[in-house]
Amino acid sequence: MEDKIKELSQQIEEFKIEGKETLEKFRIQFLGSKNVLKDLFAEIRNVAADKRKEVGQSINSLKTQAQNKFDSLSDSSEEAEEQKSDIDLTLPGEGFKLGSRHPLSLVNEEIIEIFSKIGFNVSEGPEVEDDWHNFTGLNLPDEHPARDMQDTFFIEKDPDWLLRTHTSSVQMRVMEAKELPIRTITPGRVYRNEAISARAHCFFHQVEGIYIDKKVSFADLKQTIEYFAKEMFGEHAKIRLRPSYFPFTEPSAEVDVSCSLCNTKGCNVCKYTGWLEILGCGMIDPNVLKNAGIDPNEYSGFAFGMGIERMAMLKYEVKDLRMWSENDIRFLDQFKATW
Ligand code: DAH
Repeated sequence: MEDKIKELSQQIEEFKIEGKETLEKFRIQFLGSKNVLKDLFAEIRNVAADKRKEVGQSINSLKTQAQNKFDSLSDSSEEAEEQKSDIDLTLPGEGFKLGSRHPLSLVNEEIIEIFSKIGFNVSEGPEVEDDWHNFTGLNLPDEHPARDMQDTFFIEKDPDWLLRTHTSSVQMRVMEAKELPIRTITPGRVYRNEAISARAHCFFHQVEGIYIDKKVSFADLKQTIEYFAKEMFGEHAKIRLRPSYFPFTEPSAEVDVSCSLCNTKGCNVCKYTGWLEILGCGMIDPNVLKNAGIDPNEYSGFAFGMGIERMAMLKYEVKDLRMWSENDIRFLDQFKATW
């Protein structure tokens, strides 16, 4: 009996796993419902009475030995199995995928920063606007042919309400608040009933700027735009003003910036003109000041308006307007904030 116990103890001690099945065999042999230890207990009655207690204890410690061995082997075999299955420590780490700011937000913020350096604050207004602020107040009465310059989405229930076609509507609202002098820019989303293509979209973003004070002149306007162009497109940027027409400004102009790719020599980006159109501007029409309750004999002002998408397209040489709103991560990922 004692020899048998010793022999089993040695067997337990020396047991090594070779695959999961051998461990299972071990379990059945020593810990299963018909394990060998049970046979030993059964044989106790053949042992001399004075040795029974001692033999019983040896069998019990054999049982503990088998259990401990089994536990430690099954733990380490599970670990080994896990490591084999899906962790390859030689692979490079996965890393965090950081998001990036939308390029239009970056350009928007850049414009805000440029103008804030010369004392402009930021104003906002509603996207669903009434006719007065979007058209009539801005010198575009009903039936005015210039209304056709901007295809409008009207609110079906009440055509006096519409989706604003430009941020000039905020200009109207700021003027009505009459906290003079006014030096503000108004970034925001605008809507037009246009077929979506590489060059047109039914929604886009604009920034309007206005400066109203005593004795504001066209020279102030030109200087402000020149400052903006150099900040936005670089020290070499030149501007030129072409006479134009907007109902809310008189005189009005369109501003071009020198093409930074060819430096006015002509290339396919500027369509061989050397210049790229960036914004519309002018001296605020006295009628518009009057409409907002500001006395045009005392105050004068300038206004300008530009498209943020257009600015971003020129800056990043993006040729298709649709890219800005498709949310293609591969496209958006290329624009990183510099801070
Ligand atoms: N509102 C014009 C547009 O959407 C842009 C514009 C032109 C704004 C001239 C102005 C301006 O303030 O003076 O096309």
